[in-house]
Amino acid sequence: MLQERVEGKWLAAFRRVMALNGIGKGTPIAILSETQSRPVLIHLCELAAYDLGADVCMIQMPTPPQSAPVPVKSTGTSWALQGNRAAIEALKQVDVVVDCTVEGLIHAPEWPEIEGSGRTRLLVITNEHPEILERTEPRAEDGPKVELGIQMLREASEMRVTSALGTDLTVDLRGAPCGGTAGFSTKPGGVAHWPGGLCLAFPGQSAVNGRIVMGVGDMNLTFKTFLSGPIDITVENDFITKIRGDGIDALHFREYMEAWGDRNAYGISHVGWGMNTGARWVSATMYDKRDMQAVEFRALPGSFLWSTGANQYAGRYTLGHFDLPMRNCTIALDGRVVVKDGVLQGDLA
Ligand SMILES: [Fe+2]
Repeated sequence: MLQERVEGKWLAAFRRVMALNGIGKGTPIAILSETQSRPVLIHLCELAAYDLGADVCMIQMPTPPQSAPVPVKSTGTSWALQGNRAAIEALKQVDVVVDCTVEGLIHAPEWPEIEGSGRTRLLVITNEHPEILERTEPRAEDGPKVELGIQMLREASEMRVTSALGTDLTVDLRGAPCGGTAGFSTKPGGVAHWPGGLCLAFPGQSAVNGRIVMGVGDMNLTFKTFLSGPIDITVENDFITKIRGDGIDALHFREYMEAWGDRNAYGISHVGWGMNTGARWVSATMYDKRDMQAVEFRALPGSFLWSTGANQYAGRYTLGHFDLPMRNCTIALDGRVVVKDGVLQGDLA
């Protein structure tokens, strides 16, 4: 079992990542957490911020009661703030929210208001064991490639994803908001998470059509599992209309979707690819689920990452969310191959 204690090497990594995010002497920051946060992460943030001379306040929320019909894990939608006015107003008064909530504020309902203050940026320390953070530490040199990938997505009209297993998906990217992070940001409103390293787009309405065939070794990051058998998925006008497969993975996929009783849970949320050279498929076999938030696997270099659930840009809201990274896919933007059989190509490689 991995121990969770402050180690000098982890404190040094937290100092480096905070500095990369523009935190230094006198920077006003808030370390936000909840009662179910991983204590060692809060402690490392506190000590690193002290060493850097930041102007720090620490806010801890009680973890809210569960409201969903099934367990909700690894969504990036923290409910920890619970609309609390005192906490929201405080977060609008700092330059950086260092976010140690279990799920992170990226898709939290309160974030747009906090971002709208024109001042605050977000650094999400995802709920991983520090050993995972150590291996996936963001570095300044990762920035330009991730920026290039996001730019290529922005300029493209169409994404086509194919694979030997039978995936053939077409995504209309026109007007789709594109984003991603290398794990650091220094501008107001910026959103960074550690681990970082992904490029993604949120397709608009009637934009996603085709077939996705997931195979052995692909992952479901809500369950934090590798697939042991195929799931054959049909997507028509942004919604999953068929989920075929006899194995346990397809069964759980269908069951979890059905539990929401919400058509929007079947909608496509985001599509993109990972770029973190420190991320490894195999590391999921080497940690307990409690050690992982599984953000590393959203950033696997050359993976095709697609997801189901909320897509605010297509006007769909739901709490159900799957992030689903796939191996061995080919991704083309307007016919230009950026990932070939699961390997980043050209300037992205
Ligand atoms: Fe997601």
